[in-house]
Amino acid sequence: MTQSPPSPDQQESGKRAAGEAALEFIQDGALVGLGTGSTVKYFLLALGERVKAGLRVHGVPTSRDTAELATQLHIPLLPEQGEWELDVAVDGADQVDLHFQLIKGGGGALLREKIVAAAARTFVVLVDHTKCVPVLGKPMPVPVEVIPFGWPQSAKQLEALGGVPTLREKQGKVFETDGGHYILDWLVDSIPDPVQLEARINRIPGVVENGLFVNQTSTLIIGSPDGVQIKHNPS
Ligand code: A5P
Repeated sequence: MTQSPPSPDQQESGKRAAGEAALEFIQDGALVGLGTGSTVKYFLLALGERVKAGLRVHGVPTSRDTAELATQLHIPLLPEQGEWELDVAVDGADQVDLHFQLIKGGGGALLREKIVAAAARTFVVLVDHTKCVPVLGKPMPVPVEVIPFGWPQSAKQLEALGGVPTLREKQGKVFETDGGHYILDWLVDSIPDPVQLEARINRIPGVVENGLFVNQTSTLIIGSPDGVQIKHNPS
């Protein structure tokens, strides 16, 4: 019997379940990295409720959108250029493989997200069940953030590694990240060794960062209409 693909409603309820379950990882007084995207939004809404009820936290947002939402929810934020030692960062992902490696950056916030994840003692990743795959890659491209100067040169070098890079556009214009960079969405058939590939991409001149998040995930929360599954990374 073939399983029918999940409906948008089922996917949304998985996102909400994962977002709300992440509250369990937030202690009173915590410094928290605040991720970006439609899954983390549910975490932020739930966190905002807790803050209203008296929970004391400070956050570091990974995008202007998240900063705006956190501000509306009265979640206090740390200065952008501070030296943070975060207890936990909570973020979404576009794909997760069996070894807790990720593709991120569908929303274009990968650079700040990687900085914030690296500043946190634990990194909690929220996904709905449709994002889990055996091996990273097609149909999900790896977002590669490049500086605008000479971006076609960076694209050519990416292509030499295999795969097809496409300059990201939004509403008919070249998409610009919060840092004023461009994104090349690089479609690769399969990524059996994300650790090696992550380093190779970042050696290309003009590349600022890429959306492979390797060896960073501490805990994965997978939401589905039936509830959540919490997996701790053993390595
Ligand atoms: C933002 O740039 C991304 O890294 C998001 O964290 C990722 O794309 C997941 O987003 P959704 O939760 O909206 O799918």
